[in-house]
Amino acid sequence: MKISNVQLIYFSPTGGTKKLAQRFASLVAGKLDVPVNETKLMAPADREKEYSFAQDELVILACPTYADRVPNKIAPDLRRILHFDGSPAVAFVSFGNRSFGTAPDELADILRSGGAKVIGLGAFVTRHVFNDNIAKRRPDREDKQELEVFAEGIADKLRRGEAEEISWGLVGEYYKPLKEDGNSAVFLKAKPLTREEDCYHCGLCVKMCPMGSIDTDCVTVSGVCIKCQACVRSCPTKAKYFDDADFLSHVRMLERECQERAENKVYL
Ligand SMILES: Cc1cc2nc3c(=O)[nH]c(=O)nc-3n(C[C@H](O)[C@H](O)[C@H](O)COP(=O)(O)O)c2cc1C
Repeated sequence: MKISNVQLIYFSPTGGTKKLAQRFASLVAGKLDVPVNETKLMAPADREKEYSFAQDELVILACPTYADRVPNKIAPDLRRILHFDGSPAVAFVSFGNRSFGTAPDELADILRSGGAKVIGLGAFVTRHVFNDNIAKRRPDREDKQELEVFAEGIADKLRRGEAEEISWGLVGEYYKPLKEDGNSAVFLKAKPLTREEDCYHCGLCVKMCPMGSIDTDCVTVSGVCIKCQACVRSCPTKAKYFDDADFLSHVRMLERECQERAENKVYL
């Protein structure tokens, strides 16, 4: 199958997915000797437009795993705005060393329902945005080697014209977060707070929030918060934080329970 370019489409609030998916896209593109184009679906305005892709474009759709699935506030947008004319496609998710659950299957389903032909699925470990100790030093050299093998697998499949559709599994339930004591952690309504003495009102958090939920005062969170940590991670003075007790207990539980190296998984 002749491919004219690689189309990388991503949602990546704190940049981990983006970095990994860019590396993967450039590896595949290098092997096929074609250019990469990027479509970022970060701000709400990005997800108001519609996007169409042709049959000779290899699509890589990338997003993080949230609660074992595609982020639930983003999945409907992806289903609505992405259209493929039989484009071969790869469903690519990142996860934070706990579990990718059925996020790759859901992303593959989104691709298929938009008209793409899914030829590969991959789940790769990146930093866990809740706490740097959960997926310590990932991605590492081994991850990068596995990414290279996956890229070769996809390129080879296309070169041989064997771009038949594959399916991995069914889409499962959302993971229900736990606290340190094993009871349910309920933090759906938690929102970031601001240490006002440290906030210079630079507006970066307003710009980075993928839901457009932070008012221009940089402090008031008037919209929905998906706990993505984009505001916390992007704040130059570290003025943003979460103080929700259940959320913090969940993060400590993850730090305790997710120390073992989680494996990446690919399906070709
Ligand atoms: C709300 C939320 C839920 C998450 N759920 C999971 C999960 O179920 N399993 C996991 O291993 N990592 C989970 N993570 C970690 C992210 O998948 C990981 O940090 C990812 O790299 C973040 O992507 P980004 O850097 O592109 O924003 C979660 C992160 C957030 C913010």
